[in-house]
Amino acid sequence: MHKKLFIPGPVDVAPDVLEKMAGPMIGHRSKEASALQRGISDKMRKVFNTKEEILLSTSSGTGLMEGAIRSCTAKRAAVFGVGAFGKRWYEMALMNNVPADLYEVEWGTAITPEMVDEVLATGKYDLITITHNETSTGIMNPVEEIAEVMKKYPGVVYCLDTVSSMGGTKIDVDELGVDICITSSQKALALPPGMAVCSFSKKAVERATTVPHRGLYFDLLAIYDYIQKKDYQYPSTPSLSHMFAMDYQLDKMLAEGLDNRYKRHVECAELVRDWARKYFELFTDEKYLSNTLTVIKNTRGINVGDLNKELGKRGYQISNGYGKMKEETFRIAHMAECTKEDLQALLKEIEDILGL
Ligand SMILES: Cc1ncc(COP(=O)(O)O)c(C=O)c1O
Repeated sequence: MHKKLFIPGPVDVAPDVLEKMAGPMIGHRSKEASALQRGISDKMRKVFNTKEEILLSTSSGTGLMEGAIRSCTAKRAAVFGVGAFGKRWYEMALMNNVPADLYEVEWGTAITPEMVDEVLATGKYDLITITHNETSTGIMNPVEEIAEVMKKYPGVVYCLDTVSSMGGTKIDVDELGVDICITSSQKALALPPGMAVCSFSKKAVERATTVPHRGLYFDLLAIYDYIQKKDYQYPSTPSLSHMFAMDYQLDKMLAEGLDNRYKRHVECAELVRDWARKYFELFTDEKYLSNTLTVIKNTRGINVGDLNKELGKRGYQISNGYGKMKEETFRIAHMAECTKEDLQALLKEIEDILGL
């Protein structure tokens, strides 16, 4: 039996989108491939709210995160962490011999603009990374306020991880002054895992030209240059099956209307938050709650594994807490094509299993 997924990625993919993955192959050096990939970039610009270039990568989001910090740090990177995925970015820097420092806050809390200002005022850094939506803690960082601070530091390349939020909540990349905004296919974009997407600003291009060792597969400048010269064809063979599905899914998203999509996500989030407040507690600082997933404090000491097993028999799956919070919290994702009705059905099953 298929379990309906309420985990923060991979998410359920609509059958008509999945079908597109099974289409016949085309040559990756054909005009058809150029048109397909150019079209995806044009549509992605609408989702990202950017006039800058869009790069597509046959990898998950981690690949582009690694590429961004390696390709665009000339001096030193400041990594702001609010949970597991911020820290991951720091590890990538270390493994690539990129000088970096990690600035962390307590799990469940957000980064403040003051903190960013204080760190950048040292003049030590020429790149920062921020997690927009931290999937381990359910924090959505105050990027609008951080954008105000970033205006003071035009020489700093700003990388934003929107892996678990792009397509589920409005992110105005150009307005926020983000240079490299990264997302993955398997979350709010409602596609199978295996593709990542990022915006790549002119500032990022200029910076990368000053960095001598950018790697090869994830050299973002090489990808950028290649798609300019070869009409949106990529240096290596991309996952064309994903491209077919992505192009189709973007049409569906634009037909739904991005604002309608974001509104649906907020309504779903509010439903789950209210439920969590009634029966448990929210783990995350109320001021910075994610619109795509809710992290719930396990105040009743339930066995999350057992709950999930029972849910599995009924055709549903939620997520335990991330890493060190495996038993202390559990997570319900409400992203991609998820509806209020889907969530109501899930929550009813949980109430029934737990006798709430
Ligand atoms: C916030 C965040 N950043 C980065 C990643 C890593 O992305 P991927 O698994 O696509 O490499 C994830 C994955 O869950 C994530 O949630």
